[in-house]
Amino acid sequence: MLKIPQRLLAATTALAVALPLTLMGVTGTANAAEPHVDNPYAGATQYVNPTWAAAVEGAATRVSDPALAAKMRLVKTNPTAVWMDRISAITGNADGKGLRFHLDNALTQKQSGTPLVVNLVIYDLPGRDCYALASNGELPATAAGLTRYKTEYIDPIAAILADPKYQGLRIAATIEPDSLPNLITNISHPECQTAAPFYREGVKYALDKLHAIPNVYNYIDAAHSGWLGWDNNATPAAKLFADVARTTQAGLASVDGFVTNTANTTPLEEPYLPNSSLTVGGAPIRSASYYEWNFDFDELDWTAHLHSLLVAEGFPASTGMLIDTSRNGWGGAARPTATSTSTDLNTYVNQSKVDRRNHRGAWCNPLGAGIGERPRATPPAPAASHLDAFVWIKPPGESDGASTDIPNDEGKRFDRMCDPTFVSPKLGNQLTGASPDAPLAGRWFESQFIELVRNAYPVIGGGNPPTDIVAPSAPTGLQAGSVTNTSVALTWTPSTDNVGVTGYDIYRGTTLAGTSSTASFTATGLTASTAYSFTVRAKDAAGNVSASSAALAVTTSGTQSPGGCKVAYSANSWNTGFTASIKLTNTGTTPLADWRLTFDFANGQTVQQGWNAVWSQAGATVTGTGTPGSWNATIAPGATVDIGFNGSHSGTNTNPTAFAVSGKTCTIG
Ligand code: BGC
Repeated sequence: MLKIPQRLLAATTALAVALPLTLMGVTGTANAAEPHVDNPYAGATQYVNPTWAAAVEGAATRVSDPALAAKMRLVKTNPTAVWMDRISAITGNADGKGLRFHLDNALTQKQSGTPLVVNLVIYDLPGRDCYALASNGELPATAAGLTRYKTEYIDPIAAILADPKYQGLRIAATIEPDSLPNLITNISHPECQTAAPFYREGVKYALDKLHAIPNVYNYIDAAHSGWLGWDNNATPAAKLFADVARTTQAGLASVDGFVTNTANTTPLEEPYLPNSSLTVGGAPIRSASYYEWNFDFDELDWTAHLHSLLVAEGFPASTGMLIDTSRNGWGGAARPTATSTSTDLNTYVNQSKVDRRNHRGAWCNPLGAGIGERPRATPPAPAASHLDAFVWIKPPGESDGASTDIPNDEGKRFDRMCDPTFVSPKLGNQLTGASPDAPLAGRWFESQFIELVRNAYPVIGGGNPPTDIVAPSAPTGLQAGSVTNTSVALTWTPSTDNVGVTGYDIYRGTTLAGTSSTASFTATGLTASTAYSFTVRAKDAAGNVSASSAALAVTTSGTQSPGGCKVAYSANSWNTGFTASIKLTNTGTTPLADWRLTFDFANGQTVQQGWNAVWSQAGATVTGTGTPGSWNATIAPGATVDIGFNGSHSGTNTNPTAFAVSGKTCTIG
């Protein structure tokens, strides 16, 4: 076959020596063929996609908070995978550059003497995404679709990868996310039943073609702990992986490893729930509603569990595991800091878990998620997990699916799992927890990116791995000087043992209001006659922030006319829940800066989770504020912001009728 001589050529180092200079690595060193090694990531750097980095840089230029922008600029230096998500992605399309562009750029990024891994995602099976709609693809689950998959998709990709020009790169291919796992858990679903033979044959074909290229590594997608962790899913999954691999020419050797958590947000580790068999209230914690008897709470559990099953199926012990940590950080203010002391099983689990989703099946743009561990080889992890690397397969900031129906020519459909107002039977009749205003799967989703950076764990710039963090001591004696109606001058005393402290983060409540390199800060944009609480944390040059802080409560003076405001409030209710959508318009002639919307619930409703504003509730009174530094912190004259939240109620869900912004009554309409 045509590709076999190319493999042999690619493996011949003598050819590299004979290559003209133009075909050599851009660093000027000979583009020596990369031998196939056990762990391609060991001792290697990984390819940073310049297109994705440019999208991140764009976001950094648009945020007004300099600390946030600085974090984004750290994020953009990380490697992310290149997705071949349709045939046109191979040569390049409106959404991105083609495969050769990336490989050529990878050659320029490769340092002399250091291998470089390009993470590539093979994702175009016939009948793709058979159990969902958001990433349905272009190829039908038919014999003709399979032929196109082979000849128009896999063959051209393999031909490019086999080009001797790229023989000095290591290519790690994530093989077909979600496909084989869907055949384990969703085979009763008609679309998955129809797709099953094409998934098996397509994966076999991809493994064969890519394994034939010595510098390419095949990592089969193996879902995540909250999908396959139960033994009655895990054991058949390992068997299916082995069965499909055995149909290839090289058999099990066509597979280098497995990648878990692709594009998902399941944590690497549940630090406060280390033992799934521990009992609370007489029952093992794995029997809590959230875990549904699954032993595997996180991806370290799942990789270890899966590896042992794979070895039992005949895969070698050297089979390596990758974990997609791009969005499984779960940091931010909502992250628990200790194990719950509750004696109620479900309360104990819900208070202790860092995964803030209300159900482990919630996969679409989950609110509250953050960037996870930075990509790196052989990360510290239990040996049983056999990790080759942490990788970022899903580029943070790219949507999982549209939150409303958006027509497109990519085959992608509207999946209600991406709709924040949808109560899903797949999630035990709970809200999806998806982010609102999401674009089509794969498109840049800036507001989600901002949240992912904010909620990163380990924090961005805070030293990684987290054990590197040595937090400086907090300053003391935060004091307010000159309180006016719209600003407060703050000063504090640096701790005497603040060795290495280079600055301070100043929070208003839990929101970062600014940074200072001296022991003073003026908080502006406040509202007259309003109570605020401030805290200050110390920070070192690496961005490590002190856990403890200096606190101050202060009330501003005077009265102030914030201009006019108009509110349109609507709510969709069901049994005990509702979604409230609010349009807040500045009807005045001056910008509405640092606005604070307040209203009272009429009959005991509570705010659960909101968007585009920071929500709090005291008794019946609800307060929503623009996030300082974010796009909606200031509402221009005549402009409207769309904000909202999910709430719960028992009884009638009467809408509030009176609204005020920063103390001034708003008109309704
Ligand atoms: C989408 C792809 C996209 C990928 C990475 C998937 O959910 O279907 O089109 O390339 O995510 O963002």
